[in-house]
Amino acid sequence: MAEPFGLASGTLALATLAFQSSVSLYETVNSFHPHPKRVRALLGELEALSTALASLVDRVKSTSDVGHSVLDLPLLRCDNACKKFRQEVTQCTSRLNSNRASFRDWATLTYMGDKIDDFCDLLAGYKATINTALTDATLRQSTVTVESTGKYEDLIHDAKDDLGAQISAARMGNQPVIELLQAEVDENDQSFFRVLVDGLSIKYITVEPDIYSTEDMCFGPSLVSVLPTFPIGDWNDGLVAKNPNDGKPFFARVCLAPFPGVQNTWHEIYVDYLDLSIGRKLRTGIYEAKSSLSDDIIVVKFARFPWEVQYIENETTAYQWISGHNIGPQFLGHLTENGRVIGFLMERITDARHASAEDIEVCREVLSRLHNLGVRHGDTNRFNFLIRDSKATLIDFDTAQKCDDRDSLLQESEELSACLKDMSGRGGGGLL
Ligand SMILES: *[C@@H]1O[C@H](CO)[C@@H](O)[C@H](O)[C@H]1NC(C)=O
Repeated sequence: MAEPFGLASGTLALATLAFQSSVSLYETVNSFHPHPKRVRALLGELEALSTALASLVDRVKSTSDVGHSVLDLPLLRCDNACKKFRQEVTQCTSRLNSNRASFRDWATLTYMGDKIDDFCDLLAGYKATINTALTDATLRQSTVTVESTGKYEDLIHDAKDDLGAQISAARMGNQPVIELLQAEVDENDQSFFRVLVDGLSIKYITVEPDIYSTEDMCFGPSLVSVLPTFPIGDWNDGLVAKNPNDGKPFFARVCLAPFPGVQNTWHEIYVDYLDLSIGRKLRTGIYEAKSSLSDDIIVVKFARFPWEVQYIENETTAYQWISGHNIGPQFLGHLTENGRVIGFLMERITDARHASAEDIEVCREVLSRLHNLGVRHGDTNRFNFLIRDSKATLIDFDTAQKCDDRDSLLQESEELSACLKDMSGRGGGGLL
């Protein structure tokens, strides 16, 4: 089955190799008996991965499109990971020198217990990456405008499952694992990235214009593959520029910057970003998340970049004003990153919809509760009222201000009806 070595540089060859490795690992694991739960999970994951790889092979064969090259690195790693894992299973089996085959199999799989779980996560990551590429085959062709960056952020987010994959793959090769968390990409100006290194530290990277293509910067795995090697050391702020000597991108500067944090930390609970499991993106800088605070899914809102901290500061204070007044979602605590407060956690309002004109009564009610506290909301578009069980919850307080001018409050209240009728979509972008 040996492939001519030279072929391996093409995506088709890489996909084929990865496919073969995944099938051969499946066969090895499948030959073990019995199949405890985690082994069944592994077999299931391997089957799904092989299926994704087979579709990819078909797709690459049927198109002459060169756009799949973003997958080359993940494919190479996937192939390696399957081979190494298979090697490990076989070695482990032969070390356990027993005549009773079933005992040997059982002992091997028990010994490899946690590794099997990790490996399943790894496979799920590769599968997600491949499926993301398959569902958006146009990715590499499209011209990305700054306005549409949100879409790519979602994509980046969907590929987040790849993290486990990258961590394990990198552990094998000693590379730092870089996961793109948030991006603010500008075609003609500096671009900004928030990245997680080795699952442990968050760094902010500024990239000078005219170094990478917008599409490379918008897709996590491709950005990670083009960034220069990360300098080691305790830094959180880095600048990528063109090296004047050879024209190649390099880290022109890294430093440990004293980034600002929210000062008004009125709530007693603090949760660190790295202790959260971040889920679906709702709006820019707003995500569903799981934390150890509760079994329920919660919502986190945070400054993606240091210059957004001021907005979060104001909103944190607004939540302090309305706390206990049945106006907004419950504020659950402050969100920290490396000791500084960058955001907050709040209750997720489930099964809600956005307000429309007929909800005027309940919306006016909640707005008047806010006005009674002498606070003007400042952005009463219909997407900022969540309706559930004929009750309205106000959200998005980053423009809220203390206001002792009765007329100004009255005006906001009078304009409400027109705001709810405005179906232009302004202010929209998902619940919360
Ligand atoms: C925060 O609130 C202060 C005081 O109301 C206001 O002057 C400032 O412009 C607000 N900052 C932002 C970024 O909205």
